[in-house]
Amino acid sequence: MPPAHLSHLPAPSADALAHSQRLVSLIADEITAAGGWISFARYMELALHAPGLGYYSAGARKFGAAGDFVTAPESGLLFGQTLARQVVEVLHAGMPDVMELGAGSGRLARDLLAELLALDCLPQRYLILETSAELRERQRALLHRELPQLASRVVWLDAMPAAFSALVIGNEVLDAMPVHIITVRDHGIDELGVTATAGTFSWSARPAAGTVLAIASELELASGYTTEIHPAADAFVRTLATHLERGVALLIDYGFPAREYYHPQRASGTLMCHYRHHAHADPLCLTGLQDITAHVDFSSLAKTAAASGLELLGYANQAQFLINCGITEVLARTPADHAAAYLPLAAQAQQLVSPAEMGELFKVIALGRNFSPPLLGFVRGDKRHTL
Ligand SMILES: C[S@@+](CC[C@H](N)C(=O)[O-])C[C@H]1O[C@@H](n2cnc3c(N)ncnc32)[C@H](O)[C@@H]1O
Repeated sequence: MPPAHLSHLPAPSADALAHSQRLVSLIADEITAAGGWISFARYMELALHAPGLGYYSAGARKFGAAGDFVTAPESGLLFGQTLARQVVEVLHAGMPDVMELGAGSGRLARDLLAELLALDCLPQRYLILETSAELRERQRALLHRELPQLASRVVWLDAMPAAFSALVIGNEVLDAMPVHIITVRDHGIDELGVTATAGTFSWSARPAAGTVLAIASELELASGYTTEIHPAADAFVRTLATHLERGVALLIDYGFPAREYYHPQRASGTLMCHYRHHAHADPLCLTGLQDITAHVDFSSLAKTAAASGLELLGYANQAQFLINCGITEVLARTPADHAAAYLPLAAQAQQLVSPAEMGELFKVIALGRNFSPPLLGFVRGDKRHTL
């Protein structure tokens, strides 16, 4: 059940609670085996991705109105139709394939492919790299049902190919990667980890060490500051750099440059949980039943990319990126006097570009190798210099 301070949250069903209990036991066993403490990053990895039990690996509904949160592609067709214009530009520049990372329900794949089909600009293959077996099945079912004629172009991958050329797209994937949590004390830097007592998890601090200490020390934070660091997202960028021979990666997520991320006023970090459209900050409850996310540090990504041989090709907020890609033209394809069709699209546009909704908090970063043409999404308002 949600703890007392979250008693306003909807109560999970008996089945959901039993499922959560199985995951709690698995994590508690690992904590015992590790000597009584695991890092928060390991807890988050298991809570989200433990095979068959984690939030993303198991059957929770997750996306959309009946789930826990709504992503840009889940809000409607407009996001995919607009992004397709950027995809067309890169495919026309000779890129053979599209690779989507973490495709969720499969809606972005469906919307992009349907639009690319209409524009007669299909990629040779649409590759999907997805860690969750359950989501792969959902993606497969959606694409086979709604775009059966394109089924042979869609290929699911278990890992990044050894060497590949593609336009890589990842929407809200980096924020699902495990983060470490550190707290700066007068005497040094602690890492916050997780302990278990009778199936209940608690926070427990230890002196930070190794990579976590090295990254945290560089941030020069004031005593009392608690925040996340992201070695897993950085490692992911290094893996991309190792395998991408030619192409562009467009990574879309909420987050900031380091200067804003580690601002003195953000002294409790950005960790957030989503459960049935309620956002709260306690990741140690509702284990396996709620999403756990942290904002992305785009400066760290850009630095890692540069150190791994990738070029920073663009950085803009989502509003600027979608406007550059032509969201207003896509919206204008539907006549405004056709209210039943136009009004939902206008509401999607508002959600995607309004600074009060997703327009400013969400950013798009483009990383590339052996790909030089300018990218439509960054022709105006490119903020690479802020990273
Ligand atoms: C927040 S959901 C976003 C889904 C979808 N992109 C969207 O925008 O609706 C995160 C997705 O990333 C997947 N994922 C998480 N970590 C991953 C990783 N290391 N590699 C590939 N996919 C991952 C999850 O299974 C899930 O499909």
